Amino acid sequence: MKTIFSGIQPSGTLTLGNYLGAMKHFVELQQDHQCYFCVVDEHAITMPQDRLELRDNIRSLAALYLASGIDADKSTLFIQSEVAAHTQLGWMLQCVSYIGELERMTQFKDKAQGSNESVSSGLLTYPPLMAADILLYKTDVVPVGEDQKQHLELARNLAQRFNHKYNDIFTVPEIKVPKVGARIMSLQDPTKKMSKSDANQKAYISMLDEPKVIEKKIKSAVTDSDGIVAYDPDHKPGIANLLTIYSTAANRSIDSLVERYHNNGYGTFKQDVADAVIQLLHPIQKRYEELIHSEELDHILDDGADKAGIEANKMLRKAKKAMGLGRVHIKK
Ligand code: TYM
Repeated sequence: MKTIFSGIQPSGTLTLGNYLGAMKHFVELQQDHQCYFCVVDEHAITMPQDRLELRDNIRSLAALYLASGIDADKSTLFIQSEVAAHTQLGWMLQCVSYIGELERMTQFKDKAQGSNESVSSGLLTYPPLMAADILLYKTDVVPVGEDQKQHLELARNLAQRFNHKYNDIFTVPEIKVPKVGARIMSLQDPTKKMSKSDANQKAYISMLDEPKVIEKKIKSAVTDSDGIVAYDPDHKPGIANLLTIYSTAANRSIDSLVERYHNNGYGTFKQDVADAVIQLLHPIQKRYEELIHSEELDHILDDGADKAGIEANKMLRKAKKAMGLGRVHIKK
């Protein structure tokens, strides 16, 4: 059975983009893979975080994984900072990565832009930590949205470089990006990706938004004035984005949606997109409310950290040995 690893940052409430681009596929993949899903809190502190909000967001993300359908009997769900091997291997992989290649990461360039001195060095060395997350578990496949592809290419390079330089211990992971929904765009500027850190709340749908809010945000989504529902991301990015959202939320093909709404204007179309999203999120929100203050959630996370820790430490020991860290005990 192949092994899957993926992570999500607890840096705000998850968006519909995170769900459709990543989480939804995790739920499907867990049926026939050995899966590790992680709340990557150590990645979140590469940007400033409020201590109490971060704590809430960590718990909330863990509850959302489960509410979305991650089954703790099938998958290992855990918090990154509760398995120390991640930062330990992260450091070792920093020593294998080059400053030049880290500076070329577009996410680093975007986030660091204009901030100069206050950019944390963690923002630069984030990709080797991400590589460590993955490589600790002999991961075969990493399901992610489009925006993580560059980081994963780097993770593959670091694995290969380490294997070549020290010892052939790491599995070089494949990247899995969904065909539809890999890049859900902002509702207010459909040329930008939907992001939980967008200053304009109308730009994204949070997985915990109430039905009325979802409806309002979709109805005010920026489109165009020609009134024809067609899939043309270059010329009609707003409508293409709504089609992608509808298609992935309701599991209907884009072609069938275009056929249904082509000449009917945008009113009914937007209403139906909103209804599809509300229907998708309703059961998740209900289950979330049951889980968020439950002890069950803590038991699952304790168990997950134990299981992940055992696997991760085995690989960490191998990596330390390969690099010559620590010592060999004298046996008499
Ligand atoms: P993060 O927390 O930004 O996003 C989590 C997942 O959601 C996907 N995603 C999207 N997909 C479609 N449309 C969007 N608008 C959209 N926004 C986000 C992301 O591609 C991602 O799959 N560095 C990672 C977290 C991470 C990780 C890992 C992932 C840390 N270690 C190891 C995989 C393996 C991140 O910041 O994702």
